[in-house]
Amino acid sequence: MSKPSFEEIFDIQRKINIVDVIRDYIPLTKKGKNYFGICPFHDDHNPSMSVSPEKQMYKCFVCGAAGNVFNFVKDYKNINYYEAVKEVADKVGISIDIGSYKPKEDIKFKDEYDIYEISNKFYQNNLNTPLGKIARNYLASRDITEDIIKRFQIGLSFNDNKLVSLLESKGYSKDLLVKSGISVINDEGKLSDIYRNRIMFPLWDTNGKVIGFSGRIYEGSDTSKYINTMETDIFKKGSLLYNYENAKKSVLEKDEIIICEGFMDVIRLYTIGVTNAVATMGTAVTKEQLNLIRKLTNNVILLFDGDKAGEKATLSFIELSKNIDFNLSIVRLEEDLDPDDYIIKKGKDKMLEHLSKPMNAFDYALINLKNNYNFNNPEDVSKFITSISEKLSNIDDDVIRDLEIKKISKLTDVDPDIIKSKIKVKTREDTHTINKVDVKFGVKFKENKYDKATDVILFNMIRHNNIIQYYFNNLSYLPDELDRKLASEIVLFFKKYNSFNLVDFITYLGDNSELVKRVSEIDSLPYSENYSMEEIDNCFDTIKEFSNKKQIENLQAKLKAETNDVVRKEIAKKIIDIKMGKN
Ligand code: CTP
Ligand code: MN
Repeated sequence: MSKPSFEEIFDIQRKINIVDVIRDYIPLTKKGKNYFGICPFHDDHNPSMSVSPEKQMYKCFVCGAAGNVFNFVKDYKNINYYEAVKEVADKVGISIDIGSYKPKEDIKFKDEYDIYEISNKFYQNNLNTPLGKIARNYLASRDITEDIIKRFQIGLSFNDNKLVSLLESKGYSKDLLVKSGISVINDEGKLSDIYRNRIMFPLWDTNGKVIGFSGRIYEGSDTSKYINTMETDIFKKGSLLYNYENAKKSVLEKDEIIICEGFMDVIRLYTIGVTNAVATMGTAVTKEQLNLIRKLTNNVILLFDGDKAGEKATLSFIELSKNIDFNLSIVRLEEDLDPDDYIIKKGKDKMLEHLSKPMNAFDYALINLKNNYNFNNPEDVSKFITSISEKLSNIDDDVIRDLEIKKISKLTDVDPDIIKSKIKVKTREDTHTINKVDVKFGVKFKENKYDKATDVILFNMIRHNNIIQYYFNNLSYLPDELDRKLASEIVLFFKKYNSFNLVDFITYLGDNSELVKRVSEIDSLPYSENYSMEEIDNCFDTIKEFSNKKQIENLQAKLKAETNDVVRKEIAKKIIDIKMGKN
């Protein structure tokens, strides 16, 4: 079997609820009939995506992303449509075979991905050879077991050029091997391996594909501790988090993510059963990484190193994420330890205890801010109050805010009312525009009368079967190509199934995301559910007027270019006929 028929796909769709599936990927909150979440398809800060259980559709009223459950999974996971169908089918225990169906696979950078997959296997294999014994001992000395080595695909590079030889023998060009960051050209003009005598940690993209490495020294200490793959077409350090794909399931289950600095921290946490951790890998967190986190959960625990650098990283994370709806909490470890050392030195239970009662972000910021001021100096107190008020205004919950105000009052001896007067409390409406915007009105009325007529026609076609027939008999044309195509698909669907419903129709459109987007836009137009034939006729007339205008324009252009008088006369007559309504 190859591509599943859309009847089979309808069947899968009927067995699932879009809300349950989307919930696996992004947190959703119920509001009225629908559910809302942060849209994963644009840089969203408010829950702009609505999911309708009734229509089995999702729609973002900011970026316009829309479709059914399959379109969601396809775009979210960046897979093809039939892979998405299979993924959803698996969830409801239906097995479908898409085995031989490989629609235009995304072959962009395929060679680069393949090179990294081959290299990863190669390095993993090295670690198991007799020459890998010292490295294995090093890992054992750090309590990295066989299981962990396998789980995190840890490997080893030797001081030779065997990897490039292997890759060249497989036909990859010199240019590609250099460009992909796996080798360099040495002084003799020959290709040589970049990683030498290092323990190799593969780095995966958000889909779990290996796209780079971090290599750690394990003998001596004369060179840089870690060497990372340079930025390439597929490796962008700032757009990934170590262990993201592996941790995904656990993060979704726990509805909580732990962020560390180093991948050794993530690995060590894994050994004590903490599986929802990822790492920024030593650099300041980026907006892209924040978006990756937000796709999975809003509950974020920062578990950075206990030293000054870790403190800096914590503060910069808080700052960068201040406009995001995160519930941030913070763990600060004693004695400058990083999470890995902490677990080794203090034990699993101490770490778990820390993780079970992290500090809230405000308290953490308060402690830090406090250290910069001298509370015996009134001017400092005043500056401090101004500064902390700004942070207080970011607390949504007024009970928590009140408690914090009391705390600060005690700390500084300043009257709580004075502190309150300094706070410009943001109302929920400031931060959550969704409350103000009725999702249904996210799509605006069209200005142009032809566009407007088109909208009204399509809006009614997807609601009333008789209008489909009426369109087919009396118009069968729309000015815009995409709209015309949509109308013709509606007619085709109707003819095939003798009735029309939007849920199945979207499934029928399948992979055609342009049409899916357009039809859901039409569906959410703010028109009345009732219609009159007079209104429909008026719209048809408007479209006909457009089509006549276009035809006349075309004929006039022809007329201008034509030199033969007989033909000119014919064209002129046609123009008159159209103007008289005789066409
Ligand atoms: N890092 C890096 N290059 C370095 C040092 C660090 O890329 N020269 C990155 C690595 O991704 C590392 C993270 O920053 O995981 C944190 O650095 P560090 O705390 O120094 O590493 P540890 O996780 O403590 O590593 P180890 O325990 O092996 O020393
Ligand atoms: Mn460490």
